[in-house]
Amino acid sequence: MNSIYVTQPFLPPLEEFHEYLKDIWESKWLTNNGKYHQELEKAMCEYLGVKFISLFSNGTLALVTALQALRITGEVITTPFSFVATTHALWWNNIKPVFVDIEQSKFNINPEKIEAAITPQTTAILPVHVYGNPCNVERIKAIADTYNLRVIYDACHTFGVRVNDVPVLNFGDLSVMSFHATKVYNTFEGGAIVCHDEATKKRIDNLKNFGFADETTVVAPGINAKMNEIQAAMGLLQLKYVDESIAKRKKIAACYRNQLKDLEGMAFLEDMPGVNHCYSYFPVLVDKLKFRKTRDEVYEDLKTYNIFGRRYFYPLISNFPIYRGLPSARLENLPVAKMISDEVLCLPIFPDLEEKMVKKICDILKKYQKSDIA
Ligand SMILES: Cc1ncc(COP(=O)(O)O)c(C=O)c1O
Repeated sequence: MNSIYVTQPFLPPLEEFHEYLKDIWESKWLTNNGKYHQELEKAMCEYLGVKFISLFSNGTLALVTALQALRITGEVITTPFSFVATTHALWWNNIKPVFVDIEQSKFNINPEKIEAAITPQTTAILPVHVYGNPCNVERIKAIADTYNLRVIYDACHTFGVRVNDVPVLNFGDLSVMSFHATKVYNTFEGGAIVCHDEATKKRIDNLKNFGFADETTVVAPGINAKMNEIQAAMGLLQLKYVDESIAKRKKIAACYRNQLKDLEGMAFLEDMPGVNHCYSYFPVLVDKLKFRKTRDEVYEDLKTYNIFGRRYFYPLISNFPIYRGLPSARLENLPVAKMISDEVLCLPIFPDLEEKMVKKICDILKKYQKSDIA
């Protein structure tokens, strides 16, 4: 069996990309707010239903810049259950992460635990819409309003997700996206910050371009995080196909759910009411007592069939040596995150994954249980 990885990037027809490449070669405009960069910003605002977007070379630099744009300092409340770049963005800004436990139902930061973590040094909350499932944005907004905190969402798993037809990107002061190759929508590497007013967009645009406000004025120690024309051209093409990709992912998720629904000891998330999901991941939880195999055993066994799931997110960010000395990183502070991190396995999901392969993966999972019984 050919290897099947947790994801496989969607690529548009090469001939269509050639047209863009020819044009870029002729224009010799490769980066620095070129034609395709400008077109993509406009098209993205329309597609996503947001007012302003600044494109970036990747999501990590977008996160680092988002914190700078709002001049966030001191302590920031965040989740340990994410990709490590979420917390690294704080580290790069000399900000102390304060980890708060997650909700068992959705794996996002638990809003009911946020207030207890606020100190006089807290300036912001950095939640993550994990696997694209929206955080409890209303509750987080209420807390932020009460304590005068800023909210920056890590929306790197979230593409086109809407709650009751409202784009989830419109919540919080800023939302940060990733268009990395492994994401639902990719520009090879890429990212963006969504904001709600022109002045903030200008500040972000300055920061991603060394701090230049014009040819001779540097207003901040900015970085180089500009998206180039090849990435932007890819982004324009991908927009044509992303609805189809998400529809295919939705079918795969439905197939997994149907196949796994009676499997004792293996749980998965259902769609949330009123939410248009993007199906960026298909996480399952392996309950070692009921499934009679540990998550790691399942992960290793699947590899023997050339199926490569991923343990997103294990270990917890708070377990890495850089962060584990923080008081909020203590495991007794994060029991739900620890449990989910020990049980979670993301199964392969990508638009070109055939239904028969999904069934094969599920048959293997079912077989483990049968063989254990025998
Ligand atoms: C939750 C989360 N935050 C941040 C990032 C960083 O994005 P990038 O890889 O585009 O730098 C990623 C993914 O890679 C992610 O999954």
